[in-house]
Amino acid sequence: MRILVTGAAGFIGSHLVDRLLSDGHDVIAVDNLASGRRDNLGGRVELHDLDIADPALTALATARSPEVVCHLAAQVSVRRSVSDPLLDARTNVMGTINVLEAARAAGARKTVFTSSCAVYGVPDSLPVGADAELRPKSPYAASKTTGEIYLRAYRELHGLDYTTLALANVYGPRQTPEGEAGVISIFTAALLEGRPTIVYGDGGNTRDYVYVADVVDAYARALETGSGERFNIGTGVQTTDRRLHALVAAAAGAPDEPGTAPFRLGDLPAMALDPAPALDGLGWKPRTSLEEGLAATVAWARGR
Ligand SMILES: NC(=O)c1ccc[n+]([C@@H]2O[C@H](COP(=O)([O-])OP(=O)(O)OC[C@H]3O[C@@H](n4cnc5c(N)ncnc54)[C@H](O)[C@@H]3O)[C@@H](O)[C@H]2O)c1
Repeated sequence: MRILVTGAAGFIGSHLVDRLLSDGHDVIAVDNLASGRRDNLGGRVELHDLDIADPALTALATARSPEVVCHLAAQVSVRRSVSDPLLDARTNVMGTINVLEAARAAGARKTVFTSSCAVYGVPDSLPVGADAELRPKSPYAASKTTGEIYLRAYRELHGLDYTTLALANVYGPRQTPEGEAGVISIFTAALLEGRPTIVYGDGGNTRDYVYVADVVDAYARALETGSGERFNIGTGVQTTDRRLHALVAAAAGAPDEPGTAPFRLGDLPAMALDPAPALDGLGWKPRTSLEEGLAATVAWARGR
């Protein structure tokens, strides 16, 4: 199958490209290298250095006729979305509309869209079910929510099918500190280099950490299944910041002695996504334990 991947040079996007190539697909890789790195693709595929908001995307898509568009390119920083909401919306809203226009013009069958657990804000109960109310609390969460709504509209209006994957905190090799699960790469780099680390508040905030190889497996499944649906891609397990620090320290062979600082304004207290509907709808479930995933992540960081 021919598949156009946006955000292909990013952390998750480059793992997706690897997975799609190893499954025998023909990949068209698009990224403007805003936060991605050409090295992540290692020459395995030609990179089209293009902004997703650029009308040239439609020319590329119509020339190559992808059957599916996997849309991962985004402004990924919640903090940046607060300081510059227009920049965030330019990529995450206008860029997403341009991706949908390109997919439609190229006669693509489907878009697989990347949303985030951030769209749930502070949920009523955990783990969050797929039908939980969307309560964006940042411009980033608002722009991801908007993307989800546009996908539904394009399916109604143009018959362009979609699957939305709302990702928990993804971690693994090639991750940079800026993204949503950046804490793992921050702890890993600091602990390997013997620099101090900080845990905020009482260390009791929780997140749901899902390994990148498991995440790209959900995209591979969504190429053919999950028509017109949205799924949470997480483990359902909450890990506190303090426990995460202990696990990364153990994987890095470093002392588990973080410093502390007050909670930061806007930090959400707890998150976990229920993976059960994704098992029903996509046949997907997380397979990598946090210990296994952290061992692989630390090994990669050591080798850099
Ligand atoms: N990492 C996580 O924990 C997490 C959680 C939830 C959702 N997501 C989503 O997953 C997707 C991938 O994120 P990631 O963690 O791999 O981050 P990333 O920064 O590594 O990847 C994003 C990629 O998009 C590219 N990009 C940004 N703006 C662009 C533009 N205007 N045109 C073309 N390319 C552009 C960047 O260069 C980068 O390669 C994003 O949509 C992000 O919002 C990530």
